[in-house]
Amino acid sequence: MLDIKNLHVKLEDEDKQILKGVDLTVEAGKVHAIMGPNGSGKSTLSYVLSGREGYEVTDGSATLLGEDILELEPEERAAAGMFLAFQYPVEIPGVGNMTFLRSAVNAQRKARGEEEMSSSEFLKVIREKAKDLKIDQDMLKRPVNVGFSGGEKKRNEILQMAMLEPKLCILDETDSGLDVDAMKLVSDGVNALRSPDRGFLVITHYQRLLDHIVPDVVHIMSDGRIVKTGGPELAREVEANGYAEFKETA
Ligand SMILES: Nc1ncnc2c1ncn2[C@@H]1O[C@H](COP(=O)(O)OP(=O)(O)OP(=O)(O)O)[C@@H](O)[C@H]1O
Ligand SMILES: [Mg+2]
Repeated sequence: MLDIKNLHVKLEDEDKQILKGVDLTVEAGKVHAIMGPNGSGKSTLSYVLSGREGYEVTDGSATLLGEDILELEPEERAAAGMFLAFQYPVEIPGVGNMTFLRSAVNAQRKARGEEEMSSSEFLKVIREKAKDLKIDQDMLKRPVNVGFSGGEKKRNEILQMAMLEPKLCILDETDSGLDVDAMKLVSDGVNALRSPDRGFLVITHYQRLLDHIVPDVVHIMSDGRIVKTGGPELAREVEANGYAEFKETA
């Protein structure tokens, strides 16, 4: 469903190449994990796919369900089914969490020519999903992420994902900062969304997340490229031996 070919990306206002030929295919129904040293370009890949400003694609392509997503505006990508759970979720003062989510859900439905969700239906669904993630009513009313703890922000990202029901879910280090119980909640939330028509790209540094969200495929990214692809055993290898071996091959 996601096809990335030879993707080269540089910073827009600096002569710095970050992605140097990424090839990656995520099939519907599959969970692909990306691991890799700090600064190897994992977040950059997620930003470029979701349409963040400041990056210039100098070569290669990326399609979602056959559609060239690099040509689309960020909101069009979202409507096409792309979702990114940020490594560092942003605070949006003045915008209530629930209001934000309801606008997002309905904007996407509208863009897809679907009927908007009624207030009562929306309330029912969000209350249920928030409960599963142990996000209390008070957090739904507060401004988006403002004053949320690190772990609360990460759980809130998963709530957004659960409400938007994207086709491709990218999780950028969603496990960082989570306590063991929250890690379980978040993993359960992700696993509940696994389905034959949905793909996942899970960026993480730690095998322990992949004990909960068992990946079908694991990729190692180093210096702007995917340098090795394998099964779940690859993540255990990294946990045991670090990245030295992969840095040499990069
Ligand atoms: N706006 C920017 N200005 C300068 N350098 C940047 C910018 N954005 C990214 N970079 C650089 O690009 C490289 C890749 O960064 P990126 O955040 O994608 O790494 P990462 O693999 O996600 O690392 P981590 O595991 O630490 O999250 C880094 O060297 C980073 O400093
Ligand atoms: Mg990162």
